[in-house]
Amino acid sequence: MASVKLKNIVKKYGDIEVVHGVDLTIEDGSFVVLLGPSGCGKSTLLRMIAGLESVTGGDVEIAGKRVNDKHPKDRNIAMVFQNYALYAHMTVKDNMSFSLVLAKRPQSEIDEKTEWAAKILNLEPYLKRYPRELSGGQRQRVAMGRAIVRDPAVFLFDEPLSNLDAKLRVQMRTEIKDLHERLKTTTVYVTHDQIEAMTMADKIVILRDGIIEQVGTPLEVYDSPTNLFVAQFIGSPSMNLISGTAGKDHVLTAGGVKLPLPKSHKAKPGQEVIYGIRPEDLEIGKGFPAKISVTEPTGPEIHIYADLGDDEICAIVRERQVFKRDSIVEFAPRLDKVHLFDAKTTMAIR
Ligand SMILES: Nc1ncnc2c1ncn2[C@@H]1O[C@H](COP(=O)(O)OP(=O)(O)O)[C@@H](O)[C@H]1O
Ligand SMILES: [Mg+2]
Repeated sequence: MASVKLKNIVKKYGDIEVVHGVDLTIEDGSFVVLLGPSGCGKSTLLRMIAGLESVTGGDVEIAGKRVNDKHPKDRNIAMVFQNYALYAHMTVKDNMSFSLVLAKRPQSEIDEKTEWAAKILNLEPYLKRYPRELSGGQRQRVAMGRAIVRDPAVFLFDEPLSNLDAKLRVQMRTEIKDLHERLKTTTVYVTHDQIEAMTMADKIVILRDGIIEQVGTPLEVYDSPTNLFVAQFIGSPSMNLISGTAGKDHVLTAGGVKLPLPKSHKAKPGQEVIYGIRPEDLEIGKGFPAKISVTEPTGPEIHIYADLGDDEICAIVRERQVFKRDSIVEFAPRLDKVHLFDAKTTMAIR
C-alpha cells in the first residue's frame, strides 16, 4: 500500500492549460473520490497518477517517491476503466492472469492469485467463459479481478460504473466499497456522480475547471460547502439558493420576502448574498410564503416545489401532506441549517 501525493500539478495540452496547480495528499489505505462535472480534469489527473499522461509541471509521488519519469508498469498501480478493456479472445481466467503471465510469475503463483481474486469477486463459476458471455456487472468484476491479482499499491478507477444500469450500479458500488474494506488498498476513484462519491468515499475532492474547490469527508462537503459551486453540486434535489440583501436577522429578496437568519450570522448589513437552505431543512410551518407548483411523492418522502418570486424552491417532507397547485403555503427554514454565500465572490460567509 502507498500514499499518493500531487504537488502543484499542471497539465497543458498544447497551449491550453486544463489542470492549474493541484495539490492533494491521498493517505495510505484511503478511498478518495475525484468528483466534478464532465471536462473538469478528473481523468487527466488520474492518468497522470497512472503515468498514461505526462505532467507539464509539478510532481507526482507514490509511496513518497517521485514517479514523474516512471513508466506506468513501474508505478505499482492498477487501473480500471469505464469500458472494462477486457481481451475479447481470452477467457475470464486468462484475462485476470494475463499481467502475471507477462511478468513471468511462476504458474503456481498465477493459479493461486487468480483463484483468490475469482473467489473474492464471485467469479469462480465463470472462469472458462469469454467476456461476450458475461453480463455488464460480471465484466466489470473481471476488470477488477485483473487489477487485484497484481496486488498493486494503488487502485485507480475511472468512472467504472457508468456503463451499468441503475440497479447494478448501486450493487457494484457496494461491492467495490466492500473490496476496499477487505484489501485496504489506496484507491483513487473518479466519477461525476455525486451520490456515488457520497456513498463510497472516505474523502471527496471536488474539482471544477482544473482546480480543487473543496476536499472533505462526504458529510463535511454536504454540511459545510465552502462555496456556491460545491453547494449546488452536492445534494439532490439541490440546495435552494435565493439571492437577496442581508439585514440584521433576515435576507430580503428582490420580491420583498424576508428569509430568516440565525442571530449568529456573519453577513454585513446590506451585503448582497445568496441564501442557501437544503430541501430537507425547509419545513412546512410558520415562515415565509411561497406558491405551490408541484408535489412529488417518492414513497418515503414528498418533494414539494413552490414559487418564491422568480425562484423555485423545494422542500422535502416525510409527512403525508399534499397541497393544491397555486395554494400559498408557509415554509420555515431550520435556522441552524442556513448557508450564506457572498453574491460576488460566491464564497461561504462564515
Ligand atoms: N488529449 C487531449 N488533448 C487535448 N485536450 C484534452 C485531451 N484530453 C483531455 N483534454 C481536455 O482536458 C480537459 C479535461 O478533460 P478530462 O480530464 O477528460 O475531464 P473529465 O475526466 O473530468 O471529464 C477537457 O477540457 C478536455 O477537453
Ligand atoms: Mg473522464
